[in-house]
Amino acid sequence: MSEVLFEIKHENLETGLRGYPVGYCTTSSVDPLKGLFYVGYPLSEIDCWEPEQVIYLLYYGHEGNSEEVAQFSKDLQKRATCSPDLTDHIRKLPRNGHPMKLFTAALLLAGIYEGQNQYREDCLNLIAKVPEIAATVINHHAGKEVFKPSHPELGYMENFVQMLNISNIDSQKLVKAFKIFNILHYDHGGGNLSAFIGKAVASGLEDLYGSLAAAMCALAGSRHGRANQDCLTFVENLVKEIGEDAKEEEVERVLRNKLLNNELIYGFGHAVLRVEDPRATLLYRMTEHSYPDHSLVKMAHLLRKIGTKVLKENPKISDPYPNIDAISGIMLTAAGFPFPEYYTLLFGLARTVGISRQIVYEREEAREGKGTPIVRPKYLFKAPPKKTA
Ligand code: MLT
Repeated sequence: MSEVLFEIKHENLETGLRGYPVGYCTTSSVDPLKGLFYVGYPLSEIDCWEPEQVIYLLYYGHEGNSEEVAQFSKDLQKRATCSPDLTDHIRKLPRNGHPMKLFTAALLLAGIYEGQNQYREDCLNLIAKVPEIAATVINHHAGKEVFKPSHPELGYMENFVQMLNISNIDSQKLVKAFKIFNILHYDHGGGNLSAFIGKAVASGLEDLYGSLAAAMCALAGSRHGRANQDCLTFVENLVKEIGEDAKEEEVERVLRNKLLNNELIYGFGHAVLRVEDPRATLLYRMTEHSYPDHSLVKMAHLLRKIGTKVLKENPKISDPYPNIDAISGIMLTAAGFPFPEYYTLLFGLARTVGISRQIVYEREEAREGKGTPIVRPKYLFKAPPKKTA
């Protein structure tokens, strides 16, 4: 008899499907105590790889040798340039919405102009083109009038940074920051909201671009991808309130006051993890080494210690530890990209890799190539709550 994986009781309903196994994920897994693994590799082993090497690992499910990765990078470069029709159209989108709205619209437009209605081809094409799509959205949203052309031969993130065309920065430092941010955000198991939504929409046989647009709507909310933007604002406000040289006791007093007033402490807790997010640990290490005197870095490191201490006192909080959002935006700010409204988009640019690959698995490889059926869970009927006068 087949093993029982999960027992569903009434108390499991209306819990966001928390912990329900619903399928297989071939790209990555998240262990509550050890964190994220890409195809079995802990992130601490691959955070210094080149982005193209990590994308190869996620795409093919094994580490590529240097020749294989070089070949793969060339293939991505060939696919990378967007048609002028697409970039012109992105530049006609209204500029007054959140950048994630524009990014989602841009993905739908990319499907119209560049889609081939074949999951595998579209997956590789979108992974290759998404740096230019994201850079076009950011530059247009920021009101830039001069757009630097894409040069994919520079490298995946090198090209992205040169397209952003930010003045007065140490571009090597920024490329390093974008590379690690990108690598750490490619994937996070099969059940995170954006991956799940992308796969659910693809299960109705929507094409890859439309499915990714849906996934990005899922990522845009503050409980998911937008948390990195909100977290940066939280730490900035804290520095304004108590100064960059605040002592531990002061941070503790402010955090306790916030909790008393039922205010959120941003950057802590995770749906799956029960330890400090190992991706955050890597970024704490990097910022401590590269930007120890930056005001936001100092505050983030204090929060790491004091926030955990204060939140641990509440037995109802199952994960009182920092997650990646506690430090990712701060790392980007310190490296020379202090524009929090684009942080969720940068998350989306990276997560496109994992979600697209997961969609290819579910549509073309799962169940001996038959693919998974349309997602269709069951809801139990319950009389609506009585209206109160
Ligand atoms: C993350 O990267 O932490 C997520 O996508 C959230 C999750 O895993 O549910």
